[in-house]
Amino acid sequence: MNVKLVNQPLSLISADLTLEFVTPKQFEIHPHRALLTQAGFKAEQEQLCALHEHRILVCGIDAEETDEFYRSAMAAAIKTAMNYAYTALKCSQYAPERFRALIEGVVLGSYKFERYKSEPKASKLTEVIFSHENNDGSVNDLDALEAILSQTLVIAKATNYVRNLVNQTPDDMTPQQMAITADALAKSNNLECTILDVNGLEEEKMNAMLSVGRGSAHPPRLIHLSYKPKNPRKVITLVGKGLTYDSGGLSLKGAASMVTMKMDKAGGCAVMGIIKAISELKLDIEVHAFVGAVENMISGNAYKPDDVLRAKNGKTIEVRNTDAEGRLVLADVLGYAQENVKADYIFDYATLTGACMVALGPYTTGVMGHNEALKQTWIEAGASAGEYCGMLPFNRHLKKLIKSDLADVCNVSSKPYGGAITAALFLDNFIDEDMKEKWVHFDIAGSAYTESAWDVHTYGGTGAGVRITLNWLLNLK
Ligand code: BES
Ligand code: ZN
Ligand code: ZN
Repeated sequence: MNVKLVNQPLSLISADLTLEFVTPKQFEIHPHRALLTQAGFKAEQEQLCALHEHRILVCGIDAEETDEFYRSAMAAAIKTAMNYAYTALKCSQYAPERFRALIEGVVLGSYKFERYKSEPKASKLTEVIFSHENNDGSVNDLDALEAILSQTLVIAKATNYVRNLVNQTPDDMTPQQMAITADALAKSNNLECTILDVNGLEEEKMNAMLSVGRGSAHPPRLIHLSYKPKNPRKVITLVGKGLTYDSGGLSLKGAASMVTMKMDKAGGCAVMGIIKAISELKLDIEVHAFVGAVENMISGNAYKPDDVLRAKNGKTIEVRNTDAEGRLVLADVLGYAQENVKADYIFDYATLTGACMVALGPYTTGVMGHNEALKQTWIEAGASAGEYCGMLPFNRHLKKLIKSDLADVCNVSSKPYGGAITAALFLDNFIDEDMKEKWVHFDIAGSAYTESAWDVHTYGGTGAGVRITLNWLLNLK
């Protein structure tokens, strides 16, 4: 979808469809109130009504006028408009603060993944044109709106880039293919890219990650992308879980829970999308994105419950469940990342636990770490970016649940509750002492993928992690 901003009142813009957002209060004095009422329109949130004879699409906005409500209303409207035969849609502003939400609604809401359809359905609608004027006729500063447009387009498109990667099947997006994709991103965006294959991983003594990948016909890769501007203000490390498929390994998942496990690479895809956006916005922050790309499968050579693995940082891990594989991969990638980059902050993104969804529901990212103030800045970034986040607190008793009688730490908890937190506390074993207060872990198990549309998301990957992280970085002092 082509998104444009023009320096013209709405009435002068040529487009064959006009989109109007209407609150219940505005509806009371709406010029087409009688007609809309007859059609059952009540200005309820996301309620849509097309007055084709007037070339108008009306969309309800609940009394609660927030970014979130405009963003999801725009997504609903664009999806509907794409089913009509109009070619261009025009829309006014609803206060400059809302512009970002409206653009996100267009770009994220119009997303379709049709790579596996023999006959993709092309929409006639190809253009959305925003006026610089508000719906009440007042005018906004064009430069400010243009700045919002260009920044938001970069971030929203990076979110769709992540969705495209996540939505690819495990046989298409293998660890090797993820590395090829990262290399292509590096070439197009002027990033440095280092890939370690099995030999490289062996040299680096990344035995935990190697063990997880050993049962697969698709050998693992470690991807390191870096964006290095001149005189960076800060250095940030991002680490992503890139399980291109998680069958559970010998602790095999049930048939129903295995479906969707192509999404287990979403953390890795997210850090690729984040560094893509950062490099396109030319932020003065050095960023390193590390992805542990691995497939967790069964075979005669697969790693086993009862194995003891030595991670890169020297700690030993008792494996009691091969389905708790993400934390093993991250253990090594976190170790490698900290050894190679001295960063001001380290953030990891992982579809790590089903327990996170039990705790927070299927839409919310779990935020964990030792530094309360730092976590709070992320909660605020999430609220402002429109990504739901919830903090899950550590405590010293939960830490005891991953003690091992045999090794330094066990990969699963001895109790069935608090699994998202015990997984994060496992990762804590692989965070260096001087990085403890600079680390935040994001469990995106629920938020990274959806099988039913919600907010700006359609079936499949959501691109969770991109908007919140860019928001956080843009506010970083
Ligand atoms: N990739 C899964 C977590 C997951 C589950 C992500 C559902 C998205 C949706 C992870 O590797 C896993 O299997 N975790 C286990 C941990 C358990 C064995 C301690 C889980 O959550 O059941
Ligand atoms: Zn698993
Ligand atoms: Zn997994």
